[in-house]
Amino acid sequence: MDFQFSEEHLMIQQAARDFAQTELKPGVIERDEQQKFPAEQVKKLGELGFMGMMVDPKYNGAGLDAISYVLVMEELSKIDASASVVVSVNNSLVCYGLEAYANEAQKEKYLKPLAAGEKIGAFCLSEPEAGSDATSQHTTAKDMGDYYLLNGTKNWITNGNSASTYLVIAQTHPEKGSHGINALIVEKGMEGFTVGAKENKLGIRGSDTHSLMFTDVKVPKENRIGEDGFGFAFAMKTLEGGRIGIAAQALGIASGAFELATQYSKERKTFGKPISEHQAIAFKLADMATEIEAARLLVLKAAWLKDQGLPYAQASSMAKLFASEVAMKATVEAVQIHGGYGFVKEYHVERLMRDAKITQIYEGTSEIQKVVISREILR
Ligand code: CAA
Repeated sequence: MDFQFSEEHLMIQQAARDFAQTELKPGVIERDEQQKFPAEQVKKLGELGFMGMMVDPKYNGAGLDAISYVLVMEELSKIDASASVVVSVNNSLVCYGLEAYANEAQKEKYLKPLAAGEKIGAFCLSEPEAGSDATSQHTTAKDMGDYYLLNGTKNWITNGNSASTYLVIAQTHPEKGSHGINALIVEKGMEGFTVGAKENKLGIRGSDTHSLMFTDVKVPKENRIGEDGFGFAFAMKTLEGGRIGIAAQALGIASGAFELATQYSKERKTFGKPISEHQAIAFKLADMATEIEAARLLVLKAAWLKDQGLPYAQASSMAKLFASEVAMKATVEAVQIHGGYGFVKEYHVERLMRDAKITQIYEGTSEIQKVVISREILR
Protein backbone atom coordinates (compact mmCIF):
# COMPACT_ATOMS: atom_id res chain seq x y z
CA MET A 1 0.00 0.00 0.00
CA ASP A 2 1.53 3.28 -1.12
CA PHE A 3 -0.42 6.54 -1.07
CA GLN A 4 2.40 8.57 -2.57
CA PHE A 5 2.45 9.71 -6.20
CA SER A 6 5.61 9.21 -8.24
CA GLU A 7 7.68 12.19 -9.42
CA GLU A 8 6.28 11.63 -12.90
CA HIS A 9 2.68 11.69 -11.64
CA LEU A 10 3.33 14.95 -9.81
CA MET A 11 4.88 16.51 -12.91
CA ILE A 12 1.92 15.53 -15.08
CA GLN A 13 -0.50 16.84 -12.45
CA GLN A 14 1.38 20.16 -12.34
CA ALA A 15 1.40 20.40 -16.14
CA ALA A 16 -2.38 19.92 -16.21
CA ARG A 17 -2.85 22.45 -13.39
CA ASP A 18 -0.75 25.05 -15.24
CA PHE A 19 -2.60 24.38 -18.48
CA ALA A 20 -5.96 24.79 -16.76
CA GLN A 21 -4.94 28.11 -15.24
CA THR A 22 -3.27 29.63 -18.27
CA GLU A 23 -5.25 28.16 -21.18
CA LEU A 24 -8.68 27.12 -19.87
CA LYS A 25 -9.52 29.71 -17.25
CA PRO A 26 -9.40 32.77 -19.54
CA GLY A 27 -12.62 32.69 -21.53
CA VAL A 28 -14.27 29.84 -19.63
CA ILE A 29 -17.27 32.00 -18.63
CA GLU A 30 -17.74 33.29 -22.19
CA ARG A 31 -17.46 29.82 -23.72
CA ASP A 32 -20.10 28.59 -21.27
CA GLU A 33 -22.39 31.53 -22.01
CA GLN A 34 -22.00 31.32 -25.79
CA GLN A 35 -21.84 27.49 -25.92
CA LYS A 36 -18.51 27.82 -27.71
CA PHE A 37 -16.47 24.66 -28.26
CA PRO A 38 -12.91 25.05 -26.87
CA ALA A 39 -11.32 24.22 -30.22
CA GLU A 40 -7.99 26.02 -29.71
CA GLN A 41 -7.62 24.63 -26.20
CA VAL A 42 -8.34 21.07 -27.36
CA LYS A 43 -5.72 21.44 -30.09
CA LYS A 44 -3.15 22.44 -27.45
CA LEU A 45 -4.23 19.55 -25.21
CA GLY A 46 -3.45 17.29 -28.16
CA GLU A 47 0.01 18.81 -28.55
CA LEU A 48 0.67 18.09 -24.85
CA GLY A 49 -0.27 14.44 -25.37
CA PHE A 50 -3.47 14.72 -23.29
CA MET A 51 -5.81 13.42 -26.01
CA GLY A 52 -4.26 9.95 -26.20
CA MET A 53 -2.77 9.68 -22.74
CA MET A 54 -2.93 5.92 -22.21
CA VAL A 55 -2.28 4.90 -25.81
CA ASP A 56 0.95 3.12 -26.70
CA PRO A 57 3.49 5.54 -28.26
CA LYS A 58 3.61 3.30 -31.35
CA TYR A 59 0.08 4.59 -32.07
CA ASN A 60 1.04 8.20 -31.26
CA GLY A 61 -0.11 8.02 -27.64
CA ALA A 62 1.66 9.30 -24.52
CA GLY A 63 1.98 5.80 -23.03
CA LEU A 64 0.93 6.94 -19.55
CA ASP A 65 -1.06 5.06 -16.93
CA ALA A 66 -4.65 5.52 -15.79
CA ILE A 67 -3.48 7.23 -12.57
CA SER A 68 -1.90 9.99 -14.71
CA TYR A 69 -5.12 10.22 -16.68
CA VAL A 70 -7.29 10.79 -13.60
CA LEU A 71 -4.84 13.36 -12.23
CA VAL A 72 -5.10 15.30 -15.50
CA MET A 73 -8.89 14.93 -15.63
CA GLU A 74 -9.21 16.26 -12.07
CA GLU A 75 -7.06 19.33 -12.75
CA LEU A 76 -8.75 20.24 -16.05
CA SER A 77 -12.23 19.71 -14.57
CA LYS A 78 -11.56 22.06 -11.65
CA ILE A 79 -11.55 24.86 -14.20
CA ASP A 80 -13.40 23.73 -17.32
CA ALA A 81 -15.54 20.59 -17.39
CA SER A 82 -16.59 21.36 -20.98
CA ALA A 83 -13.00 20.90 -22.13
CA SER A 84 -12.40 17.92 -19.87
CA VAL A 85 -15.34 15.94 -21.24
CA VAL A 86 -13.78 16.21 -24.71
CA VAL A 87 -10.56 14.80 -23.22
CA SER A 88 -12.45 12.07 -21.39
CA VAL A 89 -14.48 10.83 -24.36
CA ASN A 90 -11.50 10.92 -26.71
CA ASN A 91 -9.21 9.10 -24.26
CA SER A 92 -11.30 6.56 -22.47
CA LEU A 93 -14.12 5.77 -24.84
CA VAL A 94 -12.69 6.26 -28.32
CA CYS A 95 -8.91 5.74 -28.06
CA TYR A 96 -9.21 3.01 -25.43
CA GLY A 97 -11.98 1.25 -27.39
CA LEU A 98 -9.86 1.23 -30.53
CA GLU A 99 -6.58 0.27 -28.88
CA ALA A 100 -8.14 -2.59 -26.94
CA TYR A 101 -10.43 -4.06 -29.61
CA ALA A 102 -9.68 -2.73 -33.11
CA ASN A 103 -7.43 -4.56 -35.58
CA GLU A 104 -4.03 -3.28 -36.72
CA ALA A 105 -5.31 -1.64 -39.91
CA GLN A 106 -8.02 0.20 -37.97
CA LYS A 107 -5.49 1.34 -35.36
CA GLU A 108 -3.17 2.65 -38.07
CA LYS A 109 -5.92 4.52 -39.85
CA TYR A 110 -8.12 5.75 -36.98
CA LEU A 111 -6.35 5.48 -33.63
CA LYS A 112 -3.12 7.25 -34.62
CA PRO A 113 -4.65 10.65 -35.53
CA LEU A 114 -7.00 10.47 -32.52
CA ALA A 115 -4.22 9.71 -30.06
CA ALA A 116 -2.09 12.49 -31.55
CA GLY A 117 -4.96 14.93 -31.03
CA GLU A 118 -5.13 15.66 -34.77
CA LYS A 119 -8.68 14.37 -34.86
CA ILE A 120 -11.45 14.10 -32.29
CA GLY A 121 -13.60 11.03 -31.69
CA ALA A 122 -17.18 10.42 -30.56
CA PHE A 123 -18.84 7.40 -28.95
CA CYS A 124 -22.37 6.86 -30.24
CA LEU A 125 -24.49 4.53 -28.12
CA SER A 126 -27.45 6.60 -26.84
CA GLU A 127 -30.62 6.89 -28.87
CA PRO A 128 -33.94 8.66 -28.40
CA GLU A 129 -35.26 5.41 -26.87
CA ALA A 130 -32.06 3.73 -25.73
CA GLY A 131 -30.25 5.61 -22.98
CA SER A 132 -30.08 3.51 -19.82
CA ASP A 133 -31.58 0.54 -21.65
CA ALA A 134 -28.66 0.29 -24.03
CA THR A 135 -29.52 -3.12 -25.52
CA SER A 136 -32.67 -1.79 -27.18
CA GLN A 137 -30.83 -0.25 -30.12
CA HIS A 138 -33.09 0.98 -32.94
CA THR A 139 -30.22 2.02 -35.20
CA THR A 140 -29.70 -0.79 -37.69
CA ALA A 141 -26.58 -1.96 -39.51
CA LYS A 142 -27.88 -4.29 -42.20
CA ASP A 143 -25.33 -6.77 -43.51
CA MET A 144 -25.06 -6.17 -47.28
CA GLY A 145 -22.08 -8.42 -47.97
CA ASP A 146 -19.03 -6.19 -48.11
CA TYR A 147 -20.64 -3.26 -46.30
CA TYR A 148 -23.24 -2.42 -43.64
CA LEU A 149 -26.21 -0.20 -44.45
CA LEU A 150 -26.56 2.07 -41.44
CA ASN A 151 -29.89 3.70 -40.58
CA GLY A 152 -31.05 5.46 -37.44
CA THR A 153 -30.58 8.33 -35.01
CA LYS A 154 -28.16 8.80 -32.13
CA ASN A 155 -28.81 11.32 -29.37
CA TRP A 156 -26.77 13.45 -26.94
CA ILE A 157 -23.49 12.67 -28.65
CA THR A 158 -20.53 14.45 -27.04
CA ASN A 159 -18.18 15.91 -29.70
CA GLY A 160 -21.11 15.41 -32.07
CA ASN A 161 -19.97 18.07 -34.53
CA SER A 162 -16.29 18.50 -33.69
CA ALA A 163 -15.47 14.81 -34.15
CA SER A 164 -14.23 13.22 -37.36
CA THR A 165 -14.33 9.59 -36.20
CA TYR A 166 -17.48 8.08 -34.69
CA LEU A 167 -17.83 4.69 -33.02
CA VAL A 168 -21.45 3.80 -33.73
CA ILE A 169 -23.33 0.99 -32.01
CA ALA A 170 -26.08 -0.56 -34.14
CA GLN A 171 -28.27 -3.65 -34.34
CA THR A 172 -27.48 -6.16 -37.12
CA HIS A 173 -29.32 -9.30 -35.97
CA PRO A 174 -32.38 -8.20 -33.91
CA GLU A 175 -33.28 -11.85 -33.22
CA LYS A 176 -29.99 -12.22 -31.29
CA GLY A 177 -30.66 -9.28 -28.93
CA SER A 178 -27.50 -7.87 -27.36
CA HIS A 179 -25.43 -10.47 -29.21
CA GLY A 180 -26.60 -9.14 -32.58
CA ILE A 181 -25.18 -5.65 -32.06
CA ASN A 182 -22.10 -4.29 -33.88
CA ALA A 183 -19.72 -1.38 -33.32
CA LEU A 184 -18.80 0.40 -36.56
CA ILE A 185 -16.24 3.11 -37.27
CA VAL A 186 -18.01 5.86 -39.19
CA GLU A 187 -16.25 8.84 -40.73
CA LYS A 188 -17.64 12.34 -40.99
CA GLY A 189 -18.44 12.99 -44.64
CA MET A 190 -19.75 9.49 -45.40
CA GLU A 191 -22.79 9.89 -47.66
CA GLY A 192 -26.06 9.87 -45.72
CA PHE A 193 -24.47 10.88 -42.38
CA THR A 194 -25.71 14.23 -41.05
CA VAL A 195 -25.10 16.04 -37.78
CA GLY A 196 -28.29 17.38 -36.20
CA ALA A 197 -28.92 20.46 -34.10
CA LYS A 198 -26.73 21.33 -31.13
CA GLU A 199 -28.36 20.76 -27.73
CA ASN A 200 -28.86 23.87 -25.56
CA LYS A 201 -27.69 22.43 -22.24
CA LEU A 202 -27.82 23.27 -18.52
CA GLY A 203 -24.12 22.52 -18.04
CA ILE A 204 -20.91 21.62 -19.88
CA ARG A 205 -22.19 24.14 -22.38
CA GLY A 206 -18.83 24.56 -24.12
CA SER A 207 -18.89 20.96 -25.28
CA ASP A 208 -20.86 20.23 -28.43
CA THR A 209 -23.65 17.74 -27.96
CA HIS A 210 -25.64 16.78 -31.04
CA SER A 211 -28.00 14.23 -32.45
CA LEU A 212 -26.66 12.31 -35.45
CA MET A 213 -28.69 10.95 -38.33
CA PHE A 214 -27.73 8.02 -40.53
CA THR A 215 -29.68 7.40 -43.73
CA ASP A 216 -28.47 4.49 -45.84
CA VAL A 217 -24.86 5.13 -44.90
CA LYS A 218 -22.61 2.50 -46.49
CA VAL A 219 -20.03 1.52 -43.89
CA PRO A 220 -17.34 -0.86 -45.19
CA LYS A 221 -17.22 -4.25 -43.43
CA GLU A 222 -13.59 -3.58 -42.57
CA ASN A 223 -14.84 -0.81 -40.23
CA ARG A 224 -16.52 -3.26 -37.86
CA ILE A 225 -14.73 -3.57 -34.50
CA GLY A 226 -14.22 -7.18 -33.45
CA GLU A 227 -16.30 -10.19 -34.43
CA ASP A 228 -19.87 -9.99 -35.72
CA GLY A 229 -22.11 -9.34 -32.67
CA PHE A 230 -19.35 -7.97 -30.42
CA GLY A 231 -20.76 -4.42 -30.38
CA PHE A 232 -22.68 -4.49 -27.09
CA ALA A 233 -19.87 -6.13 -25.13
CA PHE A 234 -17.52 -3.60 -26.77
CA ALA A 235 -19.68 -0.72 -25.55
CA MET A 236 -19.98 -2.10 -22.01
CA LYS A 237 -16.28 -2.89 -21.66
CA THR A 238 -15.32 0.53 -23.00
CA LEU A 239 -17.75 2.27 -20.63
CA GLU A 240 -16.08 0.57 -17.66
CA GLY A 241 -13.00 2.70 -18.32
CA GLY A 242 -15.05 5.72 -19.42
CA ARG A 243 -16.66 5.81 -16.00
CA ILE A 244 -13.23 6.30 -14.39
CA GLY A 245 -12.80 9.40 -16.56
CA ILE A 246 -16.20 10.80 -15.60
CA ALA A 247 -15.58 9.97 -11.94
CA ALA A 248 -12.35 11.98 -12.18
CA GLN A 249 -14.25 14.79 -13.87
CA ALA A 250 -16.78 14.83 -11.01
CA LEU A 251 -13.91 14.82 -8.51
CA GLY A 252 -12.35 17.80 -10.29
CA ILE A 253 -15.62 19.76 -10.32
CA ALA A 254 -16.03 19.07 -6.57
CA SER A 255 -12.47 20.02 -5.69
CA GLY A 256 -12.60 23.12 -7.92
CA ALA A 257 -15.71 24.29 -6.06
CA PHE A 258 -14.12 23.45 -2.71
CA GLU A 259 -10.98 25.45 -3.49
CA LEU A 260 -13.03 28.48 -4.51
CA ALA A 261 -15.28 28.22 -1.45
CA THR A 262 -12.31 27.89 0.92
CA GLN A 263 -10.54 30.89 -0.58
CA TYR A 264 -13.71 32.99 -0.53
CA SER A 265 -14.52 32.05 3.07
CA LYS A 266 -11.12 33.33 4.22
CA GLU A 267 -11.60 36.67 2.43
CA ARG A 268 -15.25 37.41 3.10
CA LYS A 269 -15.98 38.95 6.50
CA THR A 270 -19.26 39.01 8.40
CA PHE A 271 -19.90 39.91 12.03
CA GLY A 272 -16.32 41.15 12.31
CA LYS A 273 -14.43 38.05 11.15
CA PRO A 274 -13.80 35.91 8.05
CA ILE A 275 -16.77 33.61 7.46
CA SER A 276 -14.38 30.62 7.65
CA GLU A 277 -14.16 31.36 11.37
CA HIS A 278 -17.89 30.82 11.79
CA GLN A 279 -18.48 27.20 12.63
CA ALA A 280 -21.46 27.02 10.24
CA ILE A 281 -19.04 27.57 7.34
CA ALA A 282 -16.03 25.72 8.78
CA PHE A 283 -18.12 22.55 9.23
CA LYS A 284 -19.34 22.77 5.65
CA LEU A 285 -15.71 22.93 4.49
CA ALA A 286 -14.82 19.96 6.71
CA ASP A 287 -17.64 17.86 5.23
CA MET A 288 -16.72 18.86 1.68
CA ALA A 289 -13.02 18.05 2.21
CA THR A 290 -13.81 14.65 3.75
CA GLU A 291 -16.20 13.61 1.00
CA ILE A 292 -13.88 14.83 -1.76
CA GLU A 293 -11.00 12.83 -0.26
CA ALA A 294 -13.17 9.69 -0.11
CA ALA A 295 -14.16 10.23 -3.76
CA ARG A 296 -10.50 10.72 -4.71
CA LEU A 297 -9.55 7.40 -3.10
CA LEU A 298 -12.30 5.55 -5.00
CA VAL A 299 -11.27 7.16 -8.29
CA LEU A 300 -7.60 6.37 -7.78
CA LYS A 301 -8.39 2.81 -6.74
CA ALA A 302 -10.39 2.20 -9.92
CA ALA A 303 -7.53 3.65 -12.00
CA TRP A 304 -4.98 1.56 -10.12
CA LEU A 305 -6.97 -1.64 -10.72
CA LYS A 306 -7.08 -0.82 -14.44
CA ASP A 307 -3.33 -0.21 -14.46
CA GLN A 308 -2.74 -3.57 -12.75
CA GLY A 309 -4.83 -5.41 -15.35
CA LEU A 310 -7.33 -6.39 -12.61
CA PRO A 311 -11.15 -6.28 -13.01
CA TYR A 312 -12.46 -2.75 -12.42
CA ALA A 313 -16.13 -2.69 -13.52
CA GLN A 314 -17.42 -2.48 -9.95
CA ALA A 315 -14.73 -0.04 -8.83
CA SER A 316 -15.31 2.33 -11.74
CA SER A 317 -19.07 2.37 -11.17
CA MET A 318 -18.56 2.94 -7.43
CA ALA A 319 -16.15 5.78 -8.16
CA LYS A 320 -18.52 7.40 -10.63
CA LEU A 321 -21.57 6.96 -8.40
CA PHE A 322 -19.90 8.42 -5.34
CA ALA A 323 -17.82 11.14 -6.98
CA SER A 324 -20.77 12.48 -8.96
CA GLU A 325 -22.95 12.67 -5.82
CA VAL A 326 -20.07 14.45 -4.04
CA ALA A 327 -19.71 16.86 -6.97
CA MET A 328 -23.36 17.77 -6.78
CA LYS A 329 -23.31 18.27 -3.00
CA ALA A 330 -20.00 20.15 -2.91
CA THR A 331 -20.98 22.56 -5.67
CA VAL A 332 -24.34 23.35 -4.03
CA GLU A 333 -22.49 24.05 -0.77
CA ALA A 334 -19.90 26.18 -2.58
CA VAL A 335 -22.69 28.36 -3.99
CA GLN A 336 -24.23 28.60 -0.50
CA ILE A 337 -20.91 29.64 1.07
CA HIS A 338 -20.56 32.37 -1.56
CA GLY A 339 -24.07 33.64 -0.76
CA GLY A 340 -25.35 36.09 -3.38
CA TYR A 341 -21.96 36.14 -5.13
CA GLY A 342 -22.30 32.43 -5.75
CA PHE A 343 -25.36 33.10 -7.85
CA VAL A 344 -23.52 35.23 -10.40
CA LYS A 345 -21.25 33.97 -13.14
CA GLU A 346 -18.05 35.84 -12.23
CA TYR A 347 -17.49 33.63 -9.19
CA HIS A 348 -17.47 30.36 -11.21
CA VAL A 349 -19.28 28.19 -8.63
CA GLU A 350 -22.71 28.45 -10.28
CA ARG A 351 -21.16 27.01 -13.48
CA LEU A 352 -19.52 24.20 -11.53
CA MET A 353 -22.91 23.43 -9.93
CA ARG A 354 -24.57 23.24 -13.35
CA ASP A 355 -21.68 21.16 -14.74
CA ALA A 356 -21.81 18.73 -11.79
CA LYS A 357 -25.30 17.52 -12.68
CA ILE A 358 -24.31 15.79 -15.91
CA THR A 359 -21.81 13.58 -14.06
CA GLN A 360 -24.80 11.88 -12.41
CA ILE A 361 -26.32 11.24 -15.82
CA TYR A 362 -23.88 10.48 -18.63
CA GLU A 363 -21.98 7.21 -19.08
CA GLY A 364 -24.80 5.69 -17.06
CA THR A 365 -27.01 7.44 -14.50
CA SER A 366 -26.41 6.93 -10.77
CA GLU A 367 -29.18 4.31 -10.90
CA ILE A 368 -27.34 2.42 -13.68
CA GLN A 369 -24.13 2.45 -11.61
CA LYS A 370 -26.13 0.80 -8.81
CA VAL A 371 -27.32 -1.86 -11.28
CA VAL A 372 -23.70 -2.59 -12.25
CA ILE A 373 -22.43 -2.58 -8.65
CA SER A 374 -25.22 -4.74 -7.26
CA ARG A 375 -24.84 -7.27 -10.09
CA GLU A 376 -21.11 -7.54 -9.36
CA ILE A 377 -21.80 -8.02 -5.64
CA LEU A 378 -24.51 -10.63 -6.21
CA ARG A 379 -22.78 -12.44 -9.06
N1 CAA B 1 -18.42 -6.65 -20.40
C1 CAA B 1 -18.71 -7.65 -21.25
N2 CAA B 1 -19.96 -8.05 -21.49
C2 CAA B 1 -20.95 -7.40 -20.88
C3 CAA B 1 -20.72 -6.35 -19.97
C4 CAA B 1 -19.38 -5.98 -19.74
N3 CAA B 1 -19.06 -5.00 -18.90
N4 CAA B 1 -21.89 -5.91 -19.50
C5 CAA B 1 -22.84 -6.67 -20.08
N5 CAA B 1 -22.26 -7.56 -20.91
C6 CAA B 1 -22.94 -8.61 -21.67
C7 CAA B 1 -23.67 -9.52 -20.70
O1 CAA B 1 -22.83 -10.54 -20.20
C8 CAA B 1 -24.81 -10.06 -21.52
O2 CAA B 1 -24.36 -11.18 -22.26
P1 CAA B 1 -25.06 -12.64 -21.98
O3 CAA B 1 -26.47 -12.46 -22.48
O4 CAA B 1 -24.23 -13.58 -22.78
O5 CAA B 1 -25.00 -12.87 -20.51
C9 CAA B 1 -25.11 -8.94 -22.51
O6 CAA B 1 -23.94 -8.09 -22.53
C10 CAA B 1 -26.29 -8.12 -22.10
O7 CAA B 1 -26.03 -7.64 -20.81
P2 CAA B 1 -27.14 -7.38 -19.72
O8 CAA B 1 -28.15 -8.50 -19.73
O9 CAA B 1 -26.45 -7.07 -18.45
O10 CAA B 1 -27.86 -6.08 -20.34
P3 CAA B 1 -28.96 -5.17 -19.70
O11 CAA B 1 -29.95 -4.86 -20.76
O12 CAA B 1 -29.46 -5.72 -18.41
O13 CAA B 1 -28.14 -3.78 -19.47
C11 CAA B 1 -26.81 -2.17 -18.30
C12 CAA B 1 -27.06 -3.64 -18.64
C13 CAA B 1 -25.70 -2.20 -17.30
C14 CAA B 1 -28.03 -1.51 -17.68
C15 CAA B 1 -26.40 -1.44 -19.60
O14 CAA B 1 -27.47 -1.34 -20.52
C16 CAA B 1 -25.83 -0.04 -19.36
O15 CAA B 1 -24.68 0.10 -18.96
N6 CAA B 1 -26.63 1.00 -19.63
C17 CAA B 1 -26.14 2.39 -19.55
C18 CAA B 1 -25.56 2.79 -20.87
C19 CAA B 1 -24.64 3.95 -20.75
O16 CAA B 1 -23.78 4.02 -19.86
N7 CAA B 1 -24.73 4.86 -21.70
C20 CAA B 1 -23.83 5.96 -21.76
C21 CAA B 1 -23.71 6.47 -23.14
S1 CAA B 1 -22.09 7.01 -23.55
C22 CAA B 1 -21.93 8.57 -22.93
O17 CAA B 1 -22.67 9.01 -22.12
C23 CAA B 1 -20.74 9.30 -23.42
C24 CAA B 1 -20.76 10.75 -23.16
O18 CAA B 1 -21.49 11.48 -23.77
C25 CAA B 1 -19.85 11.36 -22.20
